[in-house]
Amino acid sequence: MSRLTPENVELAKQIIRRYPRPKSALIPLCHLAQEQDGHLADDAMVHIGELVGVTSAEVLGTASFYEMFKRHEVGKYCVNICTNISCQLMGGEELLEHAEQTLGIRSGSTTNDGLFTLEDVECIAACTEAPALQVNYRYFHRISNDDFDQMIDELRSGRLDDVVPPHGVLAKVRQDLAEEQIANITPPETQVMPRWIADEAAKNDPAASEGGQA
Ligand code: FES
Repeated sequence: MSRLTPENVELAKQIIRRYPRPKSALIPLCHLAQEQDGHLADDAMVHIGELVGVTSAEVLGTASFYEMFKRHEVGKYCVNICTNISCQLMGGEELLEHAEQTLGIRSGSTTNDGLFTLEDVECIAACTEAPALQVNYRYFHRISNDDFDQMIDELRSGRLDDVVPPHGVLAKVRQDLAEEQIANITPPETQVMPRWIADEAAKNDPAASEGGQA
């Protein structure tokens, strides 16, 4: 349960400046908070609301739509095993059962050492590579039981650190826009509408053409 660190507040301010309205940065800031804590903590949502000028309920209302935002602590590695039709036909359910045995937990729970959370998920769009799974949303294809055990060993030992960062980390390289490259975008309602859009809008609603260029 933590607010953003001072370093992440600075990053948050940089991110906010890229958008026409502060609240447009809400989702990137949720990712930032999840990267910081491994999940989206309640205090972080309050802090994000303060930064972008919305209530924490609005932050929650947005974040809760997305399965990728975890609102409770999860393992360092979230293992998502697909059991949808293609994967099911290729042994996805048996793989999930094997994963439960290997990790000693049921799907939907986390190992005592806090390393692994196991999830049974719907199609992850790798149907031609069934049975497929993701670890922190990084793909592993055509996984046998032995492949799974080896992958877990490699994750435990850190040999996959270059491939799979801790849960919440989206990219290894953070986009860094120089100040002079930031678009200086203004909110849509303050922009002058291009003539062709104004003409189209006027056909449907004469009031909508107000502000159109001559
Ligand atoms: S059914 Fe498993 S990836 Fe599509």
